[in-house]
Amino acid sequence: MFKKYDFETVTDRTGLDAIKWEVIPIPNATVKEGFSHIPMWVADMDFPTAPCVIAALQARIAASSSFGYYSLPSTGYHAAIRKWQMERNNVDIGNDDYISYENSVLGGVANIVNAYTEPGEPVLLQSPTYIGFTGTVNATGRKIVLTDLVQDAEGTYRMDYEDMEAKIVDNNIKVAIFCSPHNPTGRVWDKEEIQKYVEICVKHNVKIASDEIWSDFIVGDKKHITTQSVSELAKQSVAAFYAPSKTFNLAGLVGAYSIIYNDEMRADVRKRAAATHYNQPNVLSAAALVGAYNNGAEYVEELLKVIKTNLDYAYKCLSSYEGVSVQKPAGTYVMFPDFTEFCAKRNKTMDEVLQKCVSVGVICQDGRPFHGACHARFNVACPTASVVEAFARIEKYVINEQW
Ligand SMILES: Cc1ncc(COP(=O)(O)O)c(C=O)c1O
Repeated sequence: MFKKYDFETVTDRTGLDAIKWEVIPIPNATVKEGFSHIPMWVADMDFPTAPCVIAALQARIAASSSFGYYSLPSTGYHAAIRKWQMERNNVDIGNDDYISYENSVLGGVANIVNAYTEPGEPVLLQSPTYIGFTGTVNATGRKIVLTDLVQDAEGTYRMDYEDMEAKIVDNNIKVAIFCSPHNPTGRVWDKEEIQKYVEICVKHNVKIASDEIWSDFIVGDKKHITTQSVSELAKQSVAAFYAPSKTFNLAGLVGAYSIIYNDEMRADVRKRAAATHYNQPNVLSAAALVGAYNNGAEYVEELLKVIKTNLDYAYKCLSSYEGVSVQKPAGTYVMFPDFTEFCAKRNKTMDEVLQKCVSVGVICQDGRPFHGACHARFNVACPTASVVEAFARIEKYVINEQW
């Protein structure tokens, strides 16, 4: 049967400089001979991007062979973002000027941090934490203050508002980084949860960098609620960051954007971005965004079916392993299982578990840099056959084998 999108072909990207395929992120780990590589770590997808993105890139190359100094397309770029935000998130941005190009989401987050804190001052992060936030805050010379997400009786990660407020007050926090949907736990926050988070921040004059790069990856019944949409206060105190890079697998093309309604905040962030001299739009990535956002909705719909299948499968496997505890993500394409009991029962360290996974070709990620003490992170954005093979190997060699 003819398929418009290919989410099934397993493509070995070795030799194409794809870090997912070239790097093994676990120290002292190697893949044993006879096992193919199934990379399940850094968050990009082993799927081709949408045909509409390729068409947009080809059209731009065909239109002009000049790639000189360049600004955002005068028509198209902002309109495509506004259309996408309206269709997916029911958000009417209202004015093109609220949108700013950002070279990367993390670059934008760094701009907020730099604009509103001094070196040595603290920034509030939730734990578990996306590894990139840790790197970015450290690189700016600021101090990380963590507020833990706490698992309830069902294992669902919840914000601890009391702890969060106490940390804000005790540390005189001025900037908080919020991740929605949350990497690595896969939580899709409810409106009330976001409201409460924003209320506490606003009460204490804390600026919020809301990273919503995963907003297109909602796999359950929920909807993505944009942080800025939960109240007028939120609209004025939140800088939101998005990108087509996760959704359409364009990280290598580089490019993201912010939406900031508050004039002063937007000016502050733009000033920081300009000062880096690194925030110029890339002609091809802008073309890719326009192609993706104007014509990519169907691709995303089909993609999400595959992601859901893979997450469901990974969840079924992981939750059946004795001593492994895992939550089914409502968003993202990553799983964050906890091996604490497994390690204790089997007298293994997490290093040994990770090395064992890699030895049979399943290249997952250490959860510790995400503040998961005995966790691994699995990226399931690859053909379902690879996910099935990966967990067959894990079950056989890591879970059942005596080693
Ligand atoms: C939550 C989150 N933010 C940001 C990024 C990276 O975005 P960028 O490459 O635009 O900085 C990632 C990539 O995995 C991510 O998971």
